[in-house]
Amino acid sequence: MIRPLALLRIIVPLYALILLILYLRRDTTPPSDPETKSSPPLEILIPKTIHHVMIAIPKFKPNSHSISWQQSGWKVEYWTEDACSELAQELNTSYAETFQQLPSAVLKSDFCRYMVMYGRGGVYNDLDVHLMKALPWKVMGPPRNGSKGPPSLIVGLEGDATTKGLPRSPQFVQWTIASAPEHPVLLDALGRITERTPEFLKKQQADKNGDADVMNWTGPSVWTDAVLAYLSCTDMQLEKLRDLRMAVRIKDVLILPKRAFAVIQGEDHKNPDILVKHYFSGMWKHEKSWWSKLLPFG
Ligand SMILES: *[C@@H]1O[C@H](CO)[C@@H](O)[C@H](O)[C@H]1NC(C)=O
Ligand SMILES: *[C@@H]1O[C@H](CO)[C@@H](O)[C@H](O)[C@H]1NC(C)=O
Ligand SMILES: *[C@@H]1O[C@H](CO)[C@@H](O)[C@H](O)[C@H]1NC(C)=O
Repeated sequence: MIRPLALLRIIVPLYALILLILYLRRDTTPPSDPETKSSPPLEILIPKTIHHVMIAIPKFKPNSHSISWQQSGWKVEYWTEDACSELAQELNTSYAETFQQLPSAVLKSDFCRYMVMYGRGGVYNDLDVHLMKALPWKVMGPPRNGSKGPPSLIVGLEGDATTKGLPRSPQFVQWTIASAPEHPVLLDALGRITERTPEFLKKQQADKNGDADVMNWTGPSVWTDAVLAYLSCTDMQLEKLRDLRMAVRIKDVLILPKRAFAVIQGEDHKNPDILVKHYFSGMWKHEKSWWSKLLPFG
């Protein structure tokens, strides 16, 4: 039998202890981070979907790179050749015809990424790109200035003043692209490829042993041309882009310096501005066997 006084001896200290804990907890909650304090979620125009294209990958095994996106909290979509083909039909019958005519998986995979970015929007990534920074990235939001809204298209530079041997300078990567749907740069890229595919096909048929000119046909060169045409930079801006150090906003496009998407081996990998890393499993360069190089990544 418990006497009332004994019960009180238990309850009062317990009550005091709880109060003390509550008091201490309140006192020790860390001061809120100025970045997260203004609590409305980051206003962004990029749809929260990750896209990968999987053309001519017979049995896809998730690797650490694809898993990094699956764990991002954003929806992940995988586009097979059939899915790309259906999207082409939905967007423009010329695209459907072009897609069908492209003679290799690499060319089709390039073309499909532009269609997906145009038709759906989100973040496109090659399967050998690793997510390094939690989504959404701060650069997706409005500039800290508050002078403009969030960007509709985010592109990363492949090189800076130290980079040699790129076909274009400046050159933009197309292994990672973030875009709102229906951006004019993507429409232009699709149009350029569609218009020039008959010419490239003819050239390829004339030279059976020559490799397809992937760079110009669907790759970084045509992508770069489409981006630059839209930006219509002054010569001074263009010069700055060749060795960009800080993100720059031109129109509704945010251009990120090389380290955001394109750091390479031997460079400072701890920089907080690194958003993704590209592992160059040789997709377009080694057209004949690029997929076999992907397998050891499993
Ligand atoms: C911030 O404001 C300055 C001055 O108005 C402008 O030059 C700069 O481009 C802005 N930054 C961004 C990211 O828009
Ligand atoms: C292909 O790219 C090379 C190098 O950038 C360029 O010199 C050439 O004119 C391009 N060809 C076509 C057909 O665009
Ligand atoms: C389809 O794409 C072609 C090539 O870019 C373009 O000329 C045409 O206007 C487009 N058609 C429609 C309905 O948008």
